[in-house]
Amino acid sequence: MRVLVTGGAGFIGANFVQQTVATRPDVAVTVLDALTYAGNRASLDPVADRIEFVHGDIADLDLVDNLVSGVDAVVHFAAESHNDNSLAEPWPFVQTNIVGTYSLLQAVRRHDVRYHHVSTDEVYGDLTPDDPAFTETTAYNPSSPYSATKAGSDLLVRAWTRSFGVRATLSNCSNNYGPYQHVEKFIPRQITNLIDGVRPRLYGAGHQVRDWIHVDDHNRAVWDILERGRIGQTYLIGADGELDNLTVVQLILEAFDRDPADFDHVTDRPGHDQRYAIDASLLRTELGWSPRYSDFRAGLADTITWYRENEDWWRPKKADTERAYAAAGEQKL
Ligand code: NAD
Ligand code: DAU
Repeated sequence: MRVLVTGGAGFIGANFVQQTVATRPDVAVTVLDALTYAGNRASLDPVADRIEFVHGDIADLDLVDNLVSGVDAVVHFAAESHNDNSLAEPWPFVQTNIVGTYSLLQAVRRHDVRYHHVSTDEVYGDLTPDDPAFTETTAYNPSSPYSATKAGSDLLVRAWTRSFGVRATLSNCSNNYGPYQHVEKFIPRQITNLIDGVRPRLYGAGHQVRDWIHVDDHNRAVWDILERGRIGQTYLIGADGELDNLTVVQLILEAFDRDPADFDHVTDRPGHDQRYAIDASLLRTELGWSPRYSDFRAGLADTITWYRENEDWWRPKKADTERAYAAAGEQKL
């Protein structure tokens, strides 16, 4: 079996490729990645001689058509993925997340190739503290340009499945953590700040809730869905990991033996979603999936160790990332 993995040099895609090479010797992997600021070829170094890497854009119709014609399945991770960037400049999100997905769908339609679409719980908008968790039938209600473009891409997949018979599945996952995550994201930003002796930055009061899952648990679910999921079905992926941002910052400080009050409140994100929570019953009962990382503290400790031991990987991106936050107007409250 040959699989085309888009966005395989990004956080979740690189972990997916490494997991696939380690556990599925019968699967050949081709990665298609544009190596944007978020992509990092070094994330594939451990498997570089076991995969094919193509540097290119998912919106390039001819390139995509050619690559898709030679594979049995496509797993589509490539995206512009950061909410804060989508607030500063939405256009790349429309181009990659919507036009790029269109390009892949036309190719899998033409060549009748199995397609799995990786998406986010943010398409459902946010919850109040008392709301039940998202399910596969929750109405779409995205808040940011990022989540709106992911919602748009999901709807294209549903339409191509119904109207053209494309053999697609979709998954909408909650917040991932683990190795190889860009230092712009919440957890790696605070870990690398602390390594540099800088205080963590909490948006606003930090009462927003995210539903954390380890990236390896997400990727095992993607394989379960690719192999055994029902065509046309959406599966929600989550590991019952709800925590507010303040608690996460305090757990990171604790892991560094620092005072739990040793952080700064900074400018809040406009339109900041209050709470995400996933009901993954369908995935658990129908496909028998369950998370292996049930202890967030332990998963966080592994992640901190990884960033301590892999400074060469993240250091080149750190200064530019912090400059971008400052240029966007982030200030201590
Ligand atoms: P990321 O930003 O770390 O990686 C994205 C990758 O896509 C990068 O390697 C980048 O170079 C590549 N890319 C961007 N534009 C491209 C283009 N036009 N053509 C080819 N490659 C391109 O993102 P991530 O956090 O790994 O997220 C991967 C996917 O998972 C996304 O679709 C995202 O919406 C989804 N998702 C992420 C999370 C999360 O917590 N990070 C949770 C649920 C779903
Ligand atoms: O829910 C899934 C989504 O999770 C994915 O679709 C996105 O691609 C991924 O980036 C993530 O989105 P969030 O916006 O939730 O993640 P982020 O890491 O940017 O922020 C997590 C929370 O932490 C959020 O409430 C904002 C807050 N935050 C973030 C940063 C960078 C801070 O308090 N301080 C920070 O410095």
